[in-house]
Amino acid sequence: MKLLEEYRLNAKVSLKNRIVMAPLTRSFADDNLVPTEEISNYYEKRADAGLIITEATMISRSAQGYPNTPGIYSKEQIAGWKKTTSKVHAKGGKIFLQIWHVGRVSHPIYLDGQPAVAPSAVKLEGRVPRADDLQYETPRALETHEVESIIEDFRTAALNAIEAGFDGVEIHGANGYLIDQFLHQHTNKRNDKFGGSLENRSRFLLQIVDAVTKAIGVERTGLRLSPGAYFNMEHTKGDELTFKFILNMLNDKNLAYLHTGIFDDSMSFDYLGGTATEFLRENYSGTVIASGGYNSDKGEQDIHLNKFDLLAIGRPFIANPDYVAKVKGNIELTAYDESMLGSLV
Ligand SMILES: Cc1cc2nc3c(=O)[nH]c(=O)nc-3n(C[C@H](O)[C@H](O)[C@H](O)COP(=O)(O)O)c2cc1C
Repeated sequence: MKLLEEYRLNAKVSLKNRIVMAPLTRSFADDNLVPTEEISNYYEKRADAGLIITEATMISRSAQGYPNTPGIYSKEQIAGWKKTTSKVHAKGGKIFLQIWHVGRVSHPIYLDGQPAVAPSAVKLEGRVPRADDLQYETPRALETHEVESIIEDFRTAALNAIEAGFDGVEIHGANGYLIDQFLHQHTNKRNDKFGGSLENRSRFLLQIVDAVTKAIGVERTGLRLSPGAYFNMEHTKGDELTFKFILNMLNDKNLAYLHTGIFDDSMSFDYLGGTATEFLRENYSGTVIASGGYNSDKGEQDIHLNKFDLLAIGRPFIANPDYVAKVKGNIELTAYDESMLGSLV
């Protein structure tokens, strides 16, 4: 099976198979937002994956939008993550930290009473998950100097991740969070150098990519993008051109990989001319990780068809810590069920 073959991301990072554990927010960090021993055991059990991408991890105190998500900005958090990286490495696994800022997808309850920050003051409609009956509120538009300091926070987070023993980081540019908010016209109404034209809307992401790769190396930097707006985001005609521009710029950068952010990758988008992964594949020449509703048979078939290079598995990895062994042994999987989110097994 191709899925079970070794894959070299680049000269510095090589994976024992092509199965990736997708980033999965689990909200089990302690009340200081430090990853625990229990979290390290959860990842250790999944170290058979060719690559683990951790749950989204906050680059700063103001990056939070959900309860008990871990961070990578304090000494305690770096020490906490070391438990995970050492256990995964002892099992011969590889692990990247997904680094994250939620932007407008937050609420003052997570921010010491302050409003969420975003490219522009455009409110997300809807209820805050797991927070009783609270609605999202209008975010505060970031000042230009604040945008620059968040780029710096991403750089520091990447350095902290390396200090914590990670093999690399995945920049979370997907799923309607802060970076994605800069990329879309609906959420970016700025008229400074970070908005107004597609080049300007791309600037925040591209400067983060440059800052992170300069700090830790292109070989250790992956990126997740959602060219199809599907979650916490509305599409505006022309957004697809911003993504084409970005992919074209990224072609010269030799990142470790590009990863599709979507829940169901069978969805076709008119404005992308196909699925999100097809769009990435067509416009980007490096390694592509697909994700979103795949099983191993479909993943195997699509890798043979050269639709992508690596397959990320999310929910089935929650239900089956031994996912890779089950694929190897052709053993039936335990079905995922939302109630499984209540405990970290
Ligand atoms: C409980 C849960 C938490 C998730 N957390 C994250 C996250 O922290 N970062 C991220 O990029 N995607 C996150 N996702 C999306 C997954 O990485 C994945 O793309 C999605 O579940 C589709 O893959 P699957 O069908 O194999 O589950 C999450 C999905 C679920 C179900």
